[in-house]
Amino acid sequence: MAERKGMCEDLARILISEEQLRSRIGELGAELTRDYRDKNPIFVGVLKGCFIFMADLLRSVDIYCTMDFMAVSSYGNGTTSTGAVKINKDLSRDIAGRHLIIVEDILDSGITLSYLKQYLEVRRPASIKLVTLLDKPSRRRADIRADYVGFEVEDAFVVGYGLDYAEEYRNLPYIGILKPEVYETEK
Ligand code: PRP
Repeated sequence: MAERKGMCEDLARILISEEQLRSRIGELGAELTRDYRDKNPIFVGVLKGCFIFMADLLRSVDIYCTMDFMAVSSYGNGTTSTGAVKINKDLSRDIAGRHLIIVEDILDSGITLSYLKQYLEVRRPASIKLVTLLDKPSRRRADIRADYVGFEVEDAFVVGYGLDYAEEYRNLPYIGILKPEVYETEK
């Protein structure tokens, strides 16, 4: 295997720093704390991208709540997506009558979240709201908006803080923009 330099060498630049993430996630946590006091919501993380955001967000939410996870993948590739989403791991508990907060790392075309919302609505939760760390409205194909957004971002290849390219870079502690040569050349 060819020797590789550090992950940060593959970035064109840092888009959102650790300090910016910490500060904005603190604000989101305070908003959720205010909006969901006495509602005992279930936070539903969509794996795998959500894992770091979910961990930090939940530590800034100061209310009684529970959490669960789903794992999903889209059928086909980005350009030929049918809009259908495959459920690889479903919720482990009944959600009827409960307030759900779906936690995503990024809202891009919106296909995943709009499918997921409809999929869960059938189980008659009391409410479903969406929180996403990053929102790329310029890429939207499905008619869906997040209720809580960390940062609106440009249409660039972002990685880090849970977001991957070919399953790597998720462990960067900030959000960076990948250099085009990294994804334009085969590894
Ligand atoms: C990402 C992200 C969302 C979805 C958003 O997941 O976590 O689930 O894509 O894209 P959309 O708005 O165009 O549907 P991905 O499929 O990359 O899986 P991962 O969470 O395991 O990285």
